[in-house]
Amino acid sequence: MDVQELKVDGQFESHGATFPLILECKSANASLEETTTWLKENATELNQQAYQHGAILFRGFPTATADDFDAFIQACGYPNFKYEESLSNAVRVVKTERVFTANEAPSDVTIFLHHEMAQTPIYPSKLFFFCEQAAESGGATPLCRSDALFELMQKEIPQFAKDCEEKGLQYTNVMPGVDDPNSGMGRSWQSTFRATTRGEAESRMLELGYTWEWLDDGSLRAVTPVLPAVRDLGDGRKSFFNQLIAAYKGWSDERNDPSKSIRHGDGSILDQEAVLKCAELAEQVTFDVPWQSGDVALVDNYVSMHGRRNFTGTRKVLASLVSS
Ligand code: FE2
Repeated sequence: MDVQELKVDGQFESHGATFPLILECKSANASLEETTTWLKENATELNQQAYQHGAILFRGFPTATADDFDAFIQACGYPNFKYEESLSNAVRVVKTERVFTANEAPSDVTIFLHHEMAQTPIYPSKLFFFCEQAAESGGATPLCRSDALFELMQKEIPQFAKDCEEKGLQYTNVMPGVDDPNSGMGRSWQSTFRATTRGEAESRMLELGYTWEWLDDGSLRAVTPVLPAVRDLGDGRKSFFNQLIAAYKGWSDERNDPSKSIRHGDGSILDQEAVLKCAELAEQVTFDVPWQSGDVALVDNYVSMHGRRNFTGTRKVLASLVSS
């Protein structure tokens, strides 16, 4: 397999690594089997590169279907992180053992930058995306180097960076009684907590350290335990590992008011100006993945945030979560 690094507009350097790393398959007519062999041989190095660079975009590899994508992920050797067992807010459709649709929310709903499931105590270490069909226009997956963001925050909004690091964050989320596919966070409480009765949901929440309130319309207001907002990456880097931007800017539907969705761990209200500044700083260290059909991206969930830009036309991006 001839695989070479590709440079495109918009990449940038952070902590001595290009973001994201883009690897292009230059072998004409490479088979899926050759690809999975190459992935297996290079799994350790690719894992290390994902951590250093924050994300890897694979272009020109022979991946065309959900099954090809599943084989690609398996070859990388990570254990599967099952959506059914996660506490994700998003409504998804399962495609294969490892693969599901990225988010069923409509094309005009922006999904703001976040670390996957960092608003819950259980999160994947990495995620994969696969572009089965690029949108007619828009639809990029923005990827943000969260370690670079935290450095910027320490310079530009030091008090807020300190508050986040020292106090942590706590999230409030109203979950509907049935899946609401019109919302980016419409997963029902039954599905989220794998419960058929309120009693089952309550014992799961107790286990996880949540507090809650049942609402008259059958929905559930759940409050997470205090979660860390900053993660030590183990090599001197720290990432802004949370869902602050997404919760503040995006957790809005008929049940949720974003200004009430997130607080510091001591119950104090977030400094709105600092939050908006933080979102602005994040855009400075974000790369928009210009999807082409067949592209696969591997994102280190501890290093990089992701989101979704609005789009027109049909966009089919599949995702998979892994733990390691
Ligand atoms: Fe996500």
